[in-house]
Amino acid sequence: MADKDGNQLEKDYHLDIRPPKQNFHVKGAEHADWGMKDRLSRIFNPATGKTVMLAFDHGYIMGSTAGLERLDLVVPKLAPEVDVFMATRGAIRTCVPPTFNKGLALRCSAGSSVLDDDMSHEVIGVNIEDAIRMNASCMAVQTFIGAPGEKSSIENLCKAIDAGNRYGIPTLGVVAVGKQMERTTKFFLLATRMLAEFGAHIVKTYYCDDFEKVVAACPVPIVVAGGKKVPEDEALEMAYKAMVEGAAGVDMGRNIFQAEDPLAMCKAIGKVVHENYNSKLAYQFYRDVKNKIK
Ligand code: 5RP
Repeated sequence: MADKDGNQLEKDYHLDIRPPKQNFHVKGAEHADWGMKDRLSRIFNPATGKTVMLAFDHGYIMGSTAGLERLDLVVPKLAPEVDVFMATRGAIRTCVPPTFNKGLALRCSAGSSVLDDDMSHEVIGVNIEDAIRMNASCMAVQTFIGAPGEKSSIENLCKAIDAGNRYGIPTLGVVAVGKQMERTTKFFLLATRMLAEFGAHIVKTYYCDDFEKVVAACPVPIVVAGGKKVPEDEALEMAYKAMVEGAAGVDMGRNIFQAEDPLAMCKAIGKVVHENYNSKLAYQFYRDVKNKIK
């Protein structure tokens, strides 16, 4: 036990120095609790406020996917270039060393496969204890606004948010699009705002016309999805436009791991997201890295 007598009671309150202005770098999270902010800071780089997420959760719906046949070979190599891995617990536990020590967006919804015509019916496939055990930085739950499974997917999202809030784990609400589903600005305005109002701390959605309106109307950060593989310059252009119009980062899968050089693509996306490279410069950078000039 410390001595009771003779202790120095004061040293220096630094009364001439103001406390730092509290401006947390993640939109809508100013009033969140410490643990929540700690996890959000693993997702959004505190220096730039932005994130590069690599999505490789495709197997939970599609099985083995082009470019992801060997998770153990493909994924760890990309780790140095990303802020966050978005994946299932099965992929993470088996193919990613725990020394990865970066953000983890744990895919927590599941329930249908590409064999199903209507893929909008999911359940919560991971309980909160396992998300804690895996030290998830956030839980990713998909919602199907406007599809037959809309109501149950909203219920899944709300349950994950409630469970996560109990333990300071943010929830990433994923706006799904499907064969019969709209991809209009009106739809994305509706879906992103709904997810944020349910309490999602981050929303993942697709780039669209008037994207800045979608960003402005959503009170939490938006990360933009990649979608089907397109040529590398087009993917970089989409990422660039999304960032200029207010996205807080990208969450890309196929446009990275199906690129001719996934590592170079990851690095180039990082330049767009964190260093404000325009798409032309980023594409040049991609080609230089691919050709080993840099
Ligand atoms: C949809 C997702 C997936 O992670 C996403 O589809 C994968 O990324 P990409 O479309 O860029 O390949 O969020 O549930």
